[in-house]
This record gives sequence, structure tokens and C-alpha cells, in this order.
Amino acid sequence: MPTVRLRRLRRDNAIRDWISQTQLHSKDIILPYFVVEGKRVKEPIKSMPGVYHLSIDNLLEDIPEALGIQSILLFGIPKIKDEIGSLSYKKNGVVQRAIKAVKKKFKDLIVITDVCLCGYTSHGHCGIIKNQKHKSKSKNFKIDNDRTLKILAKIALSHAEAGADFIAPSAMMDGQVRVIRETLDKSGFKDVGILAYSVKYASSFYGPFREALDSRPQFGDRKSYQMDYRNTDEALREIKQDIDEGADIVMIKPALAYLDIINRAKQKFNIPIAAYNVSGEYSLIKEGAQKGLVNEKEIILEILTSIKRAGADLIITYHAREVAQWLKNL
Ligand code: PBG
Repeated sequence: MPTVRLRRLRRDNAIRDWISQTQLHSKDIILPYFVVEGKRVKEPIKSMPGVYHLSIDNLLEDIPEALGIQSILLFGIPKIKDEIGSLSYKKNGVVQRAIKAVKKKFKDLIVITDVCLCGYTSHGHCGIIKNQKHKSKSKNFKIDNDRTLKILAKIALSHAEAGADFIAPSAMMDGQVRVIRETLDKSGFKDVGILAYSVKYASSFYGPFREALDSRPQFGDRKSYQMDYRNTDEALREIKQDIDEGADIVMIKPALAYLDIINRAKQKFNIPIAAYNVSGEYSLIKEGAQKGLVNEKEIILEILTSIKRAGADLIITYHAREVAQWLKNL
């Protein structure tokens, strides 16, 4: 006969709840949005069931007020793309106008903005290409890190001017946090924070998102700037670098296949950690659930709780709304 019976603590719901160590809260959840030009636009994104391209008016109606979600992450999709993504930092760009409109209507909502070039460049890369003339032929194209930094700083400033609370640089250029911090500080935006995409792996889990943003690279891949998934130590260096450059929150992305990285980062650094439960993680679950392979609600709660258990304080997820709804009704 066993003397220790661990099953006593699993006997019923009340006891299980009572001793549970990890709790998801809707305040931990960051809701991403894809904003487009136009009026009354609500266009389903095929690769991401349940996610839409929204025009600003519809965005304002969509933001949930009573679900306890405290923050959103905005992506803008411009009408026209060019080599250097010059629409990305326009004062009246779609994302800049969206920030303004959202901050006006929802005073307490924390607005985070993605700062990158991939949604704005005709070639779909996150930075400016060197030797642009040869680019279509060249397999050995290079991204101009330091020229890209100048544009990232301009984008960040335009977002801060529009009223963003946190800037989230996601281009994986060296020095991006520093240049943004310096630009914000000298322009009077000392209180605007930086949520750095510090650890962003070159991942196939981004597939559905690139349809949403129409940002698939037209040639080559992102492996010269996003991280190699075989590496861990490098992730810690990226985080340390971003903290030293002034990041307030650091992010790891994707989440589910990278729980070890989240955990190592949490053990090592005392800074809030965000994890991005990315489009591929989302859409695979949605499709699987539609086919009846898994219980949708149970599996989503399991995944997000596991991300939190690994050490994430905040989770960016396209499941945000449904999860917040479930948490409310628990
Ligand atoms: C790029 C960016 C990506 C995502 C957010 N910003 C990935 C990429 O295309 O490299 C991915 C988000 C997702 O898959 O949900 N700046």
C-alpha cells in the first residue's frame, strides 16, 4: 500500500484549483490587430480563421471593453509598398491614424505597435537591401543593418507621436533598441516604452501571418537576421543586449516550440517576458479543431497556460478574445 498518495491533491476540482500554481489572466493577454485603409472593412484572413483585416472604424468597434484585456498590438498594412518601406513612418499612415483613434476612444488601453519594414517593403524583407539593382538575381543579397536602423527610428517616432504606449521593434537589426530609445528620448518621449522582439527565430510558424501582412520575402529568406532555431545561448545574448540598450520588456517568438528559451530567459533575467503565440501555432490549432481532432477550448487553454508556466508574463495571441471570454465565464 502506498504511504504517499499524490492523487489526494487531484481528487476534485476544488482541491485542484486550490493548489494550482499557474493562472492565466486576461490582463496577461495581448490582442493583435491588422489594420487596413478604407471604411467598414472586415475582411477574413484566409490563412488565419477568425482573424480579420479591419479598417480603423471597425477596429474601434472590435476592441473588447469588458473582457479584461488591457493591451493590443497593432500592425498596419499600407496600400502601396516600395523598396524602402517609405509609407511606414508617415504621420497619416494607417497605423499612425489607428493609434490616434484607439487612444482617443480607449484611454486606459495599452497600445503596442510593431515596428518593422516587412509589411511596407515591396521585397518583403525586414530591412533595406544593399545593391538593390541586382536584388532579383542575387541569392547573396544583403540587408543594410545601419540604414535600416534610421528608418526603424523614424517609424518608432511616428508611432510615439501618434500616442503609442509601447514600441515593439521586430526587424532583428543589431542596435535597433538603442537607436529607438535614443530617438524617443531626444524627442520628448521618455515615457514611451520598448517591448523588444529580442529573440525572434527564423521560423516556419510565421507562414499564415505573412499572408495576413502580404510580407512573404520575394527572394531569399530571413535567416541572416532572425535566429537559428538550433541555438539557445545566442538568445540570452540577444536579450542581454536589448536590456542594456534600454528594453523595458523582452519577447521570445515563437512560443510553443521555444518554451525552453522562455524558461531560461525567465531564470536568468529579472525583466517582464512576453511570448508570441504566433500565427502558425494559432492556425494549426484552429484547423485541427475544425476537423474534430482536438477539443478547441481545452487545448488552447493548455497551450497558453503552458507558455505562462514556462515563464512568460505576457502572451501575444490571436486566441486573445476567445480566451478572455472563457476566463470571464470560469
Ligand atoms: C516581422 C514579423 C513577423 C511576425 C510579426 N512580425 C514574422 C516574419 O514574417 O518574419 C510573425 C507573427 C506571427 O506569425 O503571428 N516583422
